[in-house]
Amino acid sequence: MSDTVQLKIDDKTYELPVVKGTEDELAIDITKLRDLTGYVTLDIGYKNTGATKSAITFLDGEVGILKYRGYPIEQLAEKSSFLEVAYLLIYGDLPTADQIGNFQKQINHHTLVHEDMKKFFDGFPSDSHPMGQLTTLVSSLSAFYPDSLKPIQTAQDVNNTIIKLLAKMTTIVSWIYKKSMGHPVIYPQNKYDYVTNFLHMTFGQRTEEVTIDPVIVDAMNVLLILHADHEQNCSTSTVRIVGSSESNLYSSVSAGISALWGPLHGGANQAVIEMLEKIKEDGGDTDKWINKAKDKNDPFRLMGFGHRVYKNFDPRAKIIKKACDDILEKLGIDDEVLNIAKRLEEVALKDPYFIERKLYPNVDFYSGIIYRALGFPTDMFTVLFALGRLPGWIAQWKEMKENKEPIGRPRQIYVGAVDRDYVPIDKR
Ligand code: ACO
Repeated sequence: MSDTVQLKIDDKTYELPVVKGTEDELAIDITKLRDLTGYVTLDIGYKNTGATKSAITFLDGEVGILKYRGYPIEQLAEKSSFLEVAYLLIYGDLPTADQIGNFQKQINHHTLVHEDMKKFFDGFPSDSHPMGQLTTLVSSLSAFYPDSLKPIQTAQDVNNTIIKLLAKMTTIVSWIYKKSMGHPVIYPQNKYDYVTNFLHMTFGQRTEEVTIDPVIVDAMNVLLILHADHEQNCSTSTVRIVGSSESNLYSSVSAGISALWGPLHGGANQAVIEMLEKIKEDGGDTDKWINKAKDKNDPFRLMGFGHRVYKNFDPRAKIIKKACDDILEKLGIDDEVLNIAKRLEEVALKDPYFIERKLYPNVDFYSGIIYRALGFPTDMFTVLFALGRLPGWIAQWKEMKENKEPIGRPRQIYVGAVDRDYVPIDKR
């Protein structure tokens, strides 16, 4: 393979460097293209643009491979805990026993959230969307923990902010859940690990000690691990681009949470359940809804189907489908919505429309069913996705800073009006 490619424009030929990744991915480096030729590249939706060089997550959408720092997602989901995976993503290697112990201890030390933050949390209407609350609360951490705003930050300062964000996120997410239920908040307990502490604050009660079922702890660990990073998707690119202006970690992650909210991204897990409920209420005729999804004059899309990069299968969907069957069986839940999901999947996977377009169930086709079985209300689902994605956002933000990447600033091709003269409004 050559180190350069040639680009011919009119009678001139330009040499552009080729960049090769450790998994043999190839890219043409066009950083100097505009200076050399006057051209920019046009790639709406960045479908074919490598925005960075990253050592965090590798995925091959054609084959259905996903690895965090070189470790296959299947092994991590089966054998590790969410906190181990968070450590791996953020610091680059799996932790030793001492390292994970210390990491957990540091996090436990910071799980309490400034009591004054509760005052404005209390001001949210109780039926306001959890994602609106989450993005606001995470952004406001910069007001309550202004250390993150110091213009010169040592590596230790940055790490302190990382630990605080990881720690306070579980508390904030459980507050939001408790508010949606009209229940009083529960304080963290340092005797628990990261995921159990979150479940304790979420499903615990003030009146008596509630034992969290280990089946639920395991399911939650798997779900969070599967969502922990997914390279340069919409929300992660948002975190990196906001952070590239040297905005602090809290505001960068808050922007990522906003990007995640949309139904074409993290909001899909909520949209899937709402769609399945609608199909159920409509009599459960899956063929009718498949036909609607195929009809170009109908805006309906099969939520939880299709993915920008997975064009064969989503490896996370395989793991989660099994986890979903296991947890429903262990909890003894027979969910008609799951039966509809299975029928939809079966029909769609045989249908030429979906086959030709390489549309397969993605991770969120099943995650909502598990969250529902665990007792979370539908509009909390994307918040749980955000809790899982947090280590990935942090790792990507940290990498962007350590690589000293320049401020993100795409170009455009202007297609608007040219040279118009101002005409004052005729007020007669
Ligand atoms: N149902 C029906 N048709 C679909 C679907 C779907 N879910 N997804 C894509 N298509 C069709 C499109 O209409 C288009 O058809 P055409 O070529 O005849 O015009 C073709 O498949 C390609 O679709 P695009 O939108 O161009 O694909 P893109 O890669 O841009 O979008 C996306 C990917 C946004 C995920 C899309 O598949 C979708 O909207 N899916 C439903 C929402 C969803 O599940 N999102 C979660 C993604 S996973 C995550 O963020 C964690």
